Amino acid sequence: MSKLTSSKIWHELKTHHFSINNLHLRDVFDYDEDRFDKFHIEWNEFIFDYSKNRINYDTITFLCEMARKSRLKFAVRDLLAGKKVNNTENRAAMHTALRNFTVEEIFIDKINVKSQIEKSRNKIKEISNKIISGQWKGHTGKALENIINIGIGGSDLGVKMAYSALSQYHNNIKIHFVANVDRRAMMPIMRDLNPETTLFIICSKSFSTTETLANASLVMNWMIRSGVSQSDFDKHFLAVSSSYEKCLEYGIKKENVLEVWDWVGGRFSLWSAMGLALSIGIGYRNYEKLLKGAEMADNHFAKSSFEQNIPVLMAMLEFWYRSFFQTNARAVVPYNQDMKYFPDWLSQLEMESLGKSVSKNGEKLDYKSSGIVFGEVGTDAQHSFFQILHQGSDMIPVDFIAFAEYDPLDNQNQILLANFFAQAASLIKGRTETEARENLLRKGKSIEEIQDILPHKVFPGNKPSNTIIAKRLTPENLGSLLAFYEHKTFALGHLLGINPFDQMGVELGKEIANDVLLELNSQKETHAFDSSTNALINWTKK
Ligand code: F6P
Repeated sequence: MSKLTSSKIWHELKTHHFSINNLHLRDVFDYDEDRFDKFHIEWNEFIFDYSKNRINYDTITFLCEMARKSRLKFAVRDLLAGKKVNNTENRAAMHTALRNFTVEEIFIDKINVKSQIEKSRNKIKEISNKIISGQWKGHTGKALENIINIGIGGSDLGVKMAYSALSQYHNNIKIHFVANVDRRAMMPIMRDLNPETTLFIICSKSFSTTETLANASLVMNWMIRSGVSQSDFDKHFLAVSSSYEKCLEYGIKKENVLEVWDWVGGRFSLWSAMGLALSIGIGYRNYEKLLKGAEMADNHFAKSSFEQNIPVLMAMLEFWYRSFFQTNARAVVPYNQDMKYFPDWLSQLEMESLGKSVSKNGEKLDYKSSGIVFGEVGTDAQHSFFQILHQGSDMIPVDFIAFAEYDPLDNQNQILLANFFAQAASLIKGRTETEARENLLRKGKSIEEIQDILPHKVFPGNKPSNTIIAKRLTPENLGSLLAFYEHKTFALGHLLGINPFDQMGVELGKEIANDVLLELNSQKETHAFDSSTNALINWTKK
């Protein structure tokens, strides 16, 4: 048995779960009119409402006690102080340093990195301003119009999501994102591009990711075919990477490379120069506001008590459901079309960080780590997976997110918000058999007709959710929201005893893909793999 599952607090939580498991959220709300007041936090322009969870005061007390016993406070201190919290790679995870505008000195490995960070921010600012103002010219002297961000995973998802989320701040420069090695990702974008007015940003921390390098070669060849000489590449190519040398090998000049450091994890890298395309697309001033919003959330995370700490509460609730309700998944549903890539970003953040089966020290876990995180914008999601949320056999907690851009004259927005509030309310309440019968009778059905259909019309309810509402979708609020989820991931990793900052689970498939590539390129039949893989490769080659 692990230290966690044999601990006193685990047993207390287990017993507590037993006592609370039969309580229905409908009843607890009926019984306690002040429930919302007790279980919500107002912070800056946000409300975090966690009252629709299967908890009571004792649950929070036990969970906070567990967090205290796990020394979470010290773990947060170490994270923010630049200690090597990524133990398997012997690195700090200092993404918070990138959005710190307050302190004079930031030490990582005894080196003050503050000036490097400021230099990088200034370079982002300078490039953004030059491109937006038209001062940056392509090889024929024309101002730029299109920027293509080429990167994958953490070098794509965050910046793409934030650019989409902040559509109201877009300027004259159009930003496109290409991640997949499938040519179909690049082709539709390239079709409409003029090489004279296009700039590519090759984003790869390692500068060795197959997909990114293949796409980089594709566009470099296209530029050459379009008559752009290699000596003019500095007008059309930038790179963001931790390796100048590898960028140089690709023909990108040192001055055109923006650095990221090994203490910035891929999925936490939006705050580094990986956010360059965003800064170009919304202007540096707005980009800086995003960073400052995240900094505010960092301070909240560092300084608030666990009981008042939004990311810590989010982490503890997830721990509660996974460990004691045995949930397998959590849904995230932003009611805002501009947030369409948010679930993708969050899936990588949480699942790449916490989808592990061994502890920080390599011991096999005897409890659940990260579940599946999936989502879609509302109301689209209501017409795809909401059936399973309401009536499926699993309990799937939901994070509902919206921005209270309330406008009684905008009927469509009113419909959107109505659905946002209604879904969370109906998930807790459900519909009993009696209510379902009355509802059908009201609709004019006969008793006989009702008999067969009735079981299908019952909603069990008691389905938990968090609700996050911010006043507006501004760069500051987006920055805070993203930082909350990052810290939630870190805090949950800590409670689970997992290192959230490595991703070794992505390596094996990549290695085998290299072996398969050799076989695909060979004339001979392959016998290198299992019978299924061999047969499929050979069939494909024929
Ligand atoms: O998917 C694995 C991963 O290593 C991610 O963590 C990372 O964000 C992505 O690949 C891209 O890596 P790079 O920036 O080095 O190209």
